[in-house]
Amino acid sequence: MTESLRIDPTSPAPDAISHAAETLRHGGLVAFPTETVYGLGANALDRAAVARIFAAKERPPTDPLIVHLASSDELPTVAESIPPLARQLADAAWPGPLTLVLRKSAAVPPEVTAGLATVAVRVPRHPVALALLRASGVPIAAPSANRFGHTSPTTARHVLDDLEGRIDLVLDAGPTPLGVESSVLDMTRTPPVLLRPGGMPREAIEALVGPVVWRADAVAADGAAPSPGLQARHYAPRAELVLVTGERQPALQCMVELARAERVRGRRVGLLAVDDDREELQSALGSEGTLVFRSLGREVDQEGIARRLFAALRELDDAEVEVVLARELPSAGLGLAINDRLRRAAARVI
Ligand code: TXA
Ligand code: MG
Repeated sequence: MTESLRIDPTSPAPDAISHAAETLRHGGLVAFPTETVYGLGANALDRAAVARIFAAKERPPTDPLIVHLASSDELPTVAESIPPLARQLADAAWPGPLTLVLRKSAAVPPEVTAGLATVAVRVPRHPVALALLRASGVPIAAPSANRFGHTSPTTARHVLDDLEGRIDLVLDAGPTPLGVESSVLDMTRTPPVLLRPGGMPREAIEALVGPVVWRADAVAADGAAPSPGLQARHYAPRAELVLVTGERQPALQCMVELARAERVRGRRVGLLAVDDDREELQSALGSEGTLVFRSLGREVDQEGIARRLFAALRELDDAEVEVVLARELPSAGLGLAINDRLRRAAARVI
């Protein structure tokens, strides 16, 4: 049985927090909100507890976890040889949606880092996550609280849909404010390598530490191993997602043609579209039964799109569509993370 506890997102009740902290200290699994997505937490220094995370998620042991800290003062517990640039970045960006990859300390069990010499660390900004970290007094290893390969959860309902009966507790503080996971930056390399675009835009990172290298370019340049766990196809909905790239008008035309062709084949089509596109698509296609629209909000509202994206993908699955059509958006700011998640959800990119 998984217990679900409602908790205020801004001033979490101390008794709920201490119950959750107690569960963690006894080796249990607690799902909790962060500012990005819900995490599935265990005491990072307890090997058996960490092993339970992998079992609950059916996550391969080769995919390392992020360690969450209450404050950057705790960095020396989990990391060593911390470069000055990483310190600087941690001071400026934490608490917040940025994960730094650093050399690990001996205290971190190999299960957490999938045997790597490095560890991924962040201090989350959500009041519930911070209260839980402070009350438990241990670093918390927490991947996103979904079954492996599924979309990350932005609500406690999403967590339960994937993990009910497999974890001890979920703290339900409502939808998470950002909706996409943290940016992951490898600080063991110079210049730093952006392994995963996320809640902290690349531009904001570069404003603090100068140019960073995009993962694919680092791999191409020196043959470095890509980050484990960053497989191309990941956030996969059940439906086949087709991502259309390129200029807006031809992309919309392509979506209309694809939708028509799928309807001729008798397949239920989902359209994951910004409001700006929706009108045009609807007037070209009509809006009768076999089409399901899910709006992401206005194209200029990147924060709104990020917040809605994963829930919209899950809703389209619930609506039992067989194909989802989406269009790649401009990649500035949060657009880089949004497009990355769309690409990794896609069965086909056109
Ligand atoms: O926003 C987030 O980051 C959320 C919340 C819960 O904090 N967590 C999250 O964790 O998204 P997860 O496990 O779903 O994604 C962590 C990513 C993995 O894809 C993994 O490959 C990468 O971080 N990672 C972890 N440790 C690493 C390491 N030592 N070196 C390179 N990449 C690492
Ligand atoms: Mg994940």
